[in-house]
Amino acid sequence: MGYMDSKIERIVLSHDKIVSKCHDLGMKITNDYKDKRPILVGLLKGCIPFMSELIKHIDCDMEMDFLEVSSYNGTSSTGLVTITKDIKTDVKNRHVIIVEDIVDTGYTLKEVMNLFKYKGALSCEIAALLDKPSGRKTDLVTPKYVCETIGPGFVVGFGLDYDQLYRNLDYVGILKKEVYS
Ligand code: IMP
Repeated sequence: MGYMDSKIERIVLSHDKIVSKCHDLGMKITNDYKDKRPILVGLLKGCIPFMSELIKHIDCDMEMDFLEVSSYNGTSSTGLVTITKDIKTDVKNRHVIIVEDIVDTGYTLKEVMNLFKYKGALSCEIAALLDKPSGRKTDLVTPKYVCETIGPGFVVGFGLDYDQLYRNLDYVGILKKEVYS
């Protein structure tokens, strides 16, 4: 057991499962977007491991860009979203796929989707490593491409952090309680 593993109570999504799910999602996206040249917009920083795995399995023309918003403090969402790094691509008349680590309340993605609609995107869908429907506070956000739906509880790994740590775990797990206190 490695140093990082010793902090984890229970594995929620193994690395093998992530890779096989990304393969399935990549095939679906390829099918849905061939000839559409979609722009995958990753939400920094949590999107990085998921996005880099997902794009390996997409077999059609696509572009990448990144957006950074701040909305989340500690372990409960505020509903306030500020853009701290904007995209460089013009999304007008383009198909956008937002790539996110986890959809919890849905507030972040609601705001981000509004932004892309305002900027004139033709379509806007969500690809998320994890969906936590028990946390949802808006019915305007439904991720179309999801690796795994999970129950309540705070998870880390494969991009997801607690206090900026644990993003480098190659799987998703629940943190041990003693790490919080
Ligand atoms: P939402 O706006 O509540 O949907 O929150 C989305 C953001 O909150 C995600 O991009 C994560 O950064 C963070 N978040 C929500 N749940 C968790 C979790 O269980 N672990 C780590 N980060 C989380």
